[in-house]
Amino acid sequence: MSRFADQEWNAEQDAPSEFHYTTKVLPALHADAPAIVEAAKWICRGELVAFPTETVYGLGADGLNDAAVAKIFAAKGRPQDNPLILHIATLDMLDPLVKDVLPAHYSALQRLWPGPITFIFEKSERVPDRVTAGGSTVAIRMPTSEVARALIAQANTPIAAPSANRSGRPSPTTASDVLEDMDGRIPLILNGGACDIGVESTVVDLTEDPAVILRPGYYPPSMLDTFFPGIYLDPALVGDNRISAPAEKAPSLQTLPPPKSPGMKYRHYAPRARVTVYMGKEEAVKSRMMDDFHVLHAQGERVGFMVFEEAAKELSLLLSPEDAVVRSLGTEGMMDTMGQRIFRLMRELDRHHCDAIFIHGVESVGYGIAIMNRLRKAAGGNIIHVS
Ligand code: TXA
Ligand code: MG
Repeated sequence: MSRFADQEWNAEQDAPSEFHYTTKVLPALHADAPAIVEAAKWICRGELVAFPTETVYGLGADGLNDAAVAKIFAAKGRPQDNPLILHIATLDMLDPLVKDVLPAHYSALQRLWPGPITFIFEKSERVPDRVTAGGSTVAIRMPTSEVARALIAQANTPIAAPSANRSGRPSPTTASDVLEDMDGRIPLILNGGACDIGVESTVVDLTEDPAVILRPGYYPPSMLDTFFPGIYLDPALVGDNRISAPAEKAPSLQTLPPPKSPGMKYRHYAPRARVTVYMGKEEAVKSRMMDDFHVLHAQGERVGFMVFEEAAKELSLLLSPEDAVVRSLGTEGMMDTMGQRIFRLMRELDRHHCDAIFIHGVESVGYGIAIMNRLRKAAGGNIIHVS
């Protein structure tokens, strides 16, 4: 039996012949799991291993081995101009990879790492150009996940790892999500269970003063401001999130510069189904979603709903599972739960062959900035404000 729910998608993206692996999935719930030793051997041999982190699953290779790093781009179908994050297990792994670190930055790193946050530095000679896509800066993260850090320590090399999805797809937050995208393309997936956070790390550029957030994540700007005074969101995200940069840096929407983080310019995080995000209060959103559902249903389309707990209960009673798949984002206002579920549910609704997905969005404040950034990209800007 194929492990892919949707044969069409699989056929669309036929694997080149070099992808001949029988992909093993081994449990790794703790730092001393035996599978970590095996995974480190694959990494040291220049092969790819998918592994859990607290944010999303990573697709790892020896970050100092150019040929191994090249395999990441091939397995993901990732554009060559999109640089990778190097993952480290201890702070002493940082120094050889970067030029220099300001003392104020160093003390912030000591407090924020390990954690769901990535920092950009000027790179040293040791970092292969392929990791940085030819650029002079390198992204580095020390993950909280003990399994991830044990793997890096065992391999004894920085591990280059993007999210372990095929390029453009929602990031994987379980081992079976990874298998769905990487089956046959890599030898091994470490199964560490569902990711705690479920949304990729905050990316902060420390080569600018003040520091700039290139990708919003679990740690919001207000929290980071205490570590990096004056930190602001990349103006390229302003139109996206309606968050203010310092006045002199805030462009008008017509003159937005290209994002500094190359990954943010691509269509991203998208399920196969068309996504619409609805903004507004529960009652109004629910009734607008129902109106839209009836239109699509009449055209023979199957709709997936990602709504908060109360609405999910009501819609489940109203709609037959034949016509609609209703899933809960958790209790409204519980942002951590929502973050854990957004990518997982998009993938789940794809497996249910939904043609359209309706998602109840949240305000772009705090962690909501990151969640809405991902939902906007999944929706390709298809947002409806209901009053
Ligand atoms: O949570 C995460 O960050 C996960 C886990 C596996 O650690 N990784 C991840 O990697 O999300 P990826 O490749 O999917 O996203 C990395 C982002 C991209 O938007 C990329 O363009 C940006 O970081 N990036 C990497 N190096 C950069 C650099 N030198 N300058 C600016 N942006 C960079
Ligand atoms: Mg990614």
